[in-house]
Amino acid sequence: MDKIIIEGGHSLKGEVRISGAKNAALPILVSSLLADGWNTYTNVPGLKDIESTLLLLENLGAKIERGKNTVRIDASGLNNPEASYDLVRKMRASILVLGPLLARLKEAKVSLPGGCAIGARPINLHLKGLARLGASIEVEHGYIKASVDCLKGNSIYFDISTVTGTENLIMAAVLADGVTVLRNAAYEPEILALADVLNKMGADIKGAGTSEITIQGVSSLKPVSVSIIPDRIEAGTFMVASALTGGDVTITDCRSDHLEAVIHKLSLTGTKVIIDGSNMRVKGPDKIKSVDVKTLPYPGFPTDMQAQFMVLMSVACGFSIISETIFENRFIHVSELRRMGAQIKVSGNSAMVQGVKKLSGAPVMASDLRASASLILAGLVAEGKTEVNRVYHLDRGYQSIEAKFAKLGAAVKRVKG
Ligand code: EPZ
Repeated sequence: MDKIIIEGGHSLKGEVRISGAKNAALPILVSSLLADGWNTYTNVPGLKDIESTLLLLENLGAKIERGKNTVRIDASGLNNPEASYDLVRKMRASILVLGPLLARLKEAKVSLPGGCAIGARPINLHLKGLARLGASIEVEHGYIKASVDCLKGNSIYFDISTVTGTENLIMAAVLADGVTVLRNAAYEPEILALADVLNKMGADIKGAGTSEITIQGVSSLKPVSVSIIPDRIEAGTFMVASALTGGDVTITDCRSDHLEAVIHKLSLTGTKVIIDGSNMRVKGPDKIKSVDVKTLPYPGFPTDMQAQFMVLMSVACGFSIISETIFENRFIHVSELRRMGAQIKVSGNSAMVQGVKKLSGAPVMASDLRASASLILAGLVAEGKTEVNRVYHLDRGYQSIEAKFAKLGAAVKRVKG
């Protein structure tokens, strides 16, 4: 297994271009199942999760052509309704094929995704929504078996606003008979991006980006050529890296309007964020001020930025409280940060962070995607050498992260395992 080694103490300077958004690309690539013919997707990030998605789509019968950050998909040959355990266990977001398979093949057999390091990650709301559209659903032997004669539009209320649940139901409803209204829908930018792509394919979706989405079913969709939006979490990660190291980093090809909560919180720490179109210049403060944060559904502070922000608070001047309200076990990075000298106490879904002058480099273990990123960030400011093991977690969601940091002046390298 590869590891990444960082020598701390370098402040970051220069420019970094943000890749396409993993959490927009995954549902958009899956939406190719909804039409016959070649779809072309550009600005697709080169990530393990993208490769897992393409393997799954191929397994279902789609034809795939891969280029550099470009993917072409033709689902005319879609003929297999089964997403096997072996494929789904690699990536939970494979559950997104459920809606499109029901819409196109009227049946689906998808392995239950199971939990992951950050929580149980139930999918009950996905299944409840599909049942409201007329699907009959059984769960047995670790598989979801769903079938329907014809999906029928209906009103669906999500007890909890769920990102992939909203995406799954949008993709099931676009070819259903009649009108579907999703209430308490999630409105992360990735959902609006998916709806934009589906509307370009001929769907009739209104209200995406708000908590109430109305989908008028249509008879068929046509293939499309689109570009994936920039990854707001990758951008946020580099913003924190600049803030952390007293750096001066310009982040290009990003969407500052997707990062309002992160920009607001970073500004309160004394970090300067200068927005210029699709670029953001981020200048770290001499002294980092402590700021409390609570993760919330969009447009609140994103849970996917919680671990990264905790690193910043662990070397701030003062005391802060970080509350995680989305997932039940998203403080795995705390024990590793404490090994690097951070003063953090966890009680329930809150972490109390007492800033310290310096972190000290150590061998640490990555556990989930964003926790891995936080360990890299900690290594950037720690005294001495930090060795982050199991970086395959990182490769799921960040394209060539060590090369991007090295270009900004960090002393970081990957050692092939
Ligand atoms: C998406 O996961 C993202 N993944 C996650 O990013 C992100 O952290 C999360 O949304 C929250 O923003 C992708 O988009 C591929 P949810 P998702 O359904 O859709 C509960 C990353 O690092 N819930 O919005 O799985 C659930 O337990 C990943 O890129 C149910 O109870 O998250 C959680 O508490 C990590 N029943 C809350 O809703 C359901 O049926 C929000 O989860 C579905 C969800």
